[in-house]
Amino acid sequence: MRSKIVAGNWKMNKNLSETKGLLGEISDKLPDTEAEVIVAPTFVNLAESAHILESSKIKVAAQNMHYAKNGAFTGEISADMLLNINVDTVIIGHSERRAYFGETDELLAKKVKAALENKIRVIFCFGEELEERKSGNHFNVVESQLKNGLFELPADAWEQIILAYEPVWAIGTGETASPEQAQEMHAFIRKTITEAYDASIANEVSILYGGSVKPSNAGEIFSKPDVDGGLIGGAALVADDFIAIVKAI
Ligand code: PGA
Repeated sequence: MRSKIVAGNWKMNKNLSETKGLLGEISDKLPDTEAEVIVAPTFVNLAESAHILESSKIKVAAQNMHYAKNGAFTGEISADMLLNINVDTVIIGHSERRAYFGETDELLAKKVKAALENKIRVIFCFGEELEERKSGNHFNVVESQLKNGLFELPADAWEQIILAYEPVWAIGTGETASPEQAQEMHAFIRKTITEAYDASIANEVSILYGGSVKPSNAGEIFSKPDVDGGLIGGAALVADDFIAIVKAI
């Protein structure tokens, strides 16, 4: 169901003591909000984070997941391992996973499928690189990432999908897509899903924007009709900034 969401992707930041500190601060300052608030700490602190937030409104997500049930995949994490520590949301397809760890559309489709089969919600990330935008190819790129990653899914699987449009040129660069650019792409995403499935699925899916969202620009971006919230990197590591972004929604 379409809802407002602010998710913090902590990436490879914060050791255990820092994680506890940041979770404590975010919890203390969390405003009364109808938006869903999610944090995604690093794997090594995930169980402890889930435990700390057990009775909190704040939910915990993993930053990645392997598609196999178990087995000889050194360094990887399975769906069962996440569920067993009460984590039922996972970020899949982040541009850093695609760029630095060679994750392809084909691999991501397998991960999405495995997560959904295990009733784990997916925050599916995608977005074009700078060259692709400059050459006017950004709509084609986004369409093909959606198609290859998600369009084999049955219609009912979409209830467990959250989309995060993150133009790569805006991630961690301080450069944000303008609210108009975000809205234009989010509307295009809904149109693409309408064509592949139908309008009700397209209108019910939450589409987050990610890429240098900060307290100073969050309000304007979130005010756009097809933007349902944000996936926040750098600003999610500072409690006051993250809380200000939550308030902006
Ligand atoms: P950023 O990261 O907010 O630091 O640009 C966003 C993301 O990678 O999800």
